[in-house]
Parts: sequence; structure tokens; C-alpha cells
Amino acid sequence: MANSKLTNARNAKNDEFYTQYHDIQKEIEAYLEFNPNVFNSKTVLLPCDDPEWSNFTKFFAQNFERFGLKKLISTSYAPESKLYRSKYEPTLFEVNDPQFDEYKTVKNGKIFTLTRDKSGDGKIDVNDLEWKYLNGDGDFKSKEIIKLRDESDIIITNPPFSLFRDFLAWVVQAEKQFVLIGNMNAITYKELFPSIKKNKVWLGATNFNKGMYFKVPNDFVYTDSYNFERVQNGEKVNRVPGVCWFTNIDHGRRHQHLPLMSLIDNLKFSKHKEIKGKDSYDRYENYDAIDVSFTDAIPNDYEGVMGVPITFLDKYSPEQFEIVGMCENEDLYKLKTKVYTTAECKQAYFDKFHKMGTYDLNASGVVLRDGILEKVYQRVLIKHKKKTT
Ligand SMILES: C[S@@+](CC[C@H](N)C(=O)[O-])C[C@H]1O[C@@H](n2cnc3c(N)ncnc32)[C@H](O)[C@@H]1O
Repeated sequence: MANSKLTNARNAKNDEFYTQYHDIQKEIEAYLEFNPNVFNSKTVLLPCDDPEWSNFTKFFAQNFERFGLKKLISTSYAPESKLYRSKYEPTLFEVNDPQFDEYKTVKNGKIFTLTRDKSGDGKIDVNDLEWKYLNGDGDFKSKEIIKLRDESDIIITNPPFSLFRDFLAWVVQAEKQFVLIGNMNAITYKELFPSIKKNKVWLGATNFNKGMYFKVPNDFVYTDSYNFERVQNGEKVNRVPGVCWFTNIDHGRRHQHLPLMSLIDNLKFSKHKEIKGKDSYDRYENYDAIDVSFTDAIPNDYEGVMGVPITFLDKYSPEQFEIVGMCENEDLYKLKTKVYTTAECKQAYFDKFHKMGTYDLNASGVVLRDGILEKVYQRVLIKHKKKTT
């Protein structure tokens, strides 16, 4: 209980991490490089934002004309509804506006829109953003924001980390184009993996598995002991490992083929000591597949199913590979060749750790090493795409 409280508090704090301009720019430029008209005549919604200081709002407003946008909408969540409350001071921009309202500033969300040259300077940009208070608090699940979602063509944001699963379901339900930042582990969520398998959702073009730095509130207290950067571009930042972009907008990287060696060459020359010098790749005891523990060790001539780390998805090209499923308890795609009994799981635990316990063999791929059953890390099951003539 205490632990889950701690996790909630940590997640809530992460909800107030803000995306840096250059990270947004790099990612969005990749979509434009692939299709320069990707935003043409589109309404872009940026929910879960804080438009007065959000780099998403700034970036899209500054590029409104270059992208040929029809409308930009950005909404924020009311300060009093936020899970993590830091000291809230309305900005001078808001206080100096005739519509400023002391009650609404904490209780209501805000909506910023951009459609026209309000300032009359001959261009549409960040100076033309118009704003008002929302009727509600800006919760993405509220009717008010759902209506905006349904009116828009593309949804782009870094949603609250603690609500990522709900947010993902909210976006997928809408059947819109989207670009989102989320935790890499979400790849295996049942809300997401089936869409990844069907090539309806994929990973973004940049920053995969590197750890992204986010701007944090001034009163943020660092809890990790790692010596990562604390300031970037003059702003207080924190590094979040394992985050990535998820999208259903196409980009060039996902069409690049991964250069690979043959099975024999991998066994002879692989740079990985776990593979070099072996007679063959390990075969799973519970799937009709071989275990390939490194993406760059995928043999280019193996015709069967291969279990690869989830990080493979960053290198996945749908023209080169087919995703068959995943090693998982649920066995959604009916790929297991064996389901272990509780007694077998207990015996496997005893054999491996020499004490009583249960080794959940059904949760992953299992290999036999020196007569002992070993679970491998989370694996996606893939095949080479059949060459068509
Ligand atoms: C991770 S921050 C990202 C902010 C901004 N999109 C960015 O990337 O700079 C998520 C934001 O969502 C807000 N938020 C939290 N719960 C929300 C909810 N239920 N509905 C809408 N926004 C929410 C947080 O207060 C925070 O401002």
C-alpha cells in the first residue's frame, strides 16, 4: 500500500514534465520530410498542454503557415485538478487580460486557438493565438474535450504519464492520426500491441530508448542519484528513461531495411559473445521459434519465427518483417506450443534458485540451458516478410 502510494506520487510528479522544443521539432520534421503536406488543411489538437508555456503550442503556432494548418487548438488542465500541485501563479499574460477571472484561473482549463491573422501583421503566428477559459477543467475525458478531439484531424501531445494507458485508449478510440510521447513498455499493452502488429501504429522517428530530458517545475526535487544533466538551455530538466514517440503518421525511418548477416555468419562472426561460437540459436521450449537476443543478430536467411527484444520495433520495417505476436501469458495469437502446469513452474523455480517458489514460465519464451528452464526477456515474435516476385 505504502509502495503504491509512493508510485502514485512519483507518477503524479512526472505528469508535470514538459517537452523540449528541439525534441518536438526533430520528430515533427521527420513526418514532414516524408510527406511535406502531412499537416496541410488539418486541424491539430494539442490536449493536456499548458499553452502559455508549452513548446507544442509554440512550435505549431510558429509553423502554422509553413505547415498549411487549418486550425490549431491547444487545451490545458485546471491547476486545482492536477494531481501534482506546485505553487500556482497565473501568468501576467492572463492577469493582464480583461477576461481574467480569479476563480476560473484555478478551477477551469483554458483553450487557445489559432486560425487567423488577428494582429493584422500579415502573417499567422504565435501572436495570433486567441484564448478563453474552458467550461470545465480540461480533463481529456470530459465531453468538452472529446468534442474537440472528434472535430480534429491530428492529436499531438505528451499526455500525463500516470494516465498514459487511458489516454492511449482515448486516442485510439477516436480513429484519428496522432503523435504521442509514452513509455516504451506500452508496446506490450493490450491496448496497443494489436495495432502495432497490424501496422496501424508504430514508433516515432527519433529519441527511441535514449531517455528524454523534460523541463520540470522549479520546485521539482530530484530523487535519483544518477548524474544526469539538471539544466538544459537554461531550464531545469529531468531525464526520463525508456520513453518514445508513438504514432500512426508515416515517416521514412520505418521503411529503411535493417542490414543483417546470414545465420551461419552470425554464429561465426557476431559481435555478441552470447551468439558467436554457438552451434545454433536457442529454440524456445514453448514456441515454435528461435530466440534472437539482439536485433542486429537477426539472421537474414531464417524462414521461421524469431523472438526478438521489444527494442527491435525501433528498427522494424513492415516491408522487411511481419510481426507474428508476442511471448505473453495471454497467448492472444495462439502461438504457444506448450502451457506449463503450476507443478512445472514450481519445479523450474526450485531447479533454478534451489528454493521453493513459482517460476512463471508461461509469461515469456522459455529456453533450456544446461538442463535448466530459463525465461528470456520480453520478446516480440517476427518473421521475414515473404519475398514477392
Ligand atoms: C507530461 S505533461 C506534458 C505537458 C505538455 N503536453 C508538454 O509536453 O509540454 C502532461 C500535462 O497533462 C496535464 N493533465 C493531467 N491530467 C490530465 C487530465 N486528466 N486531462 C488533461 N490534462 C491532464 C498535466 O497537468 C500536465 O500539464
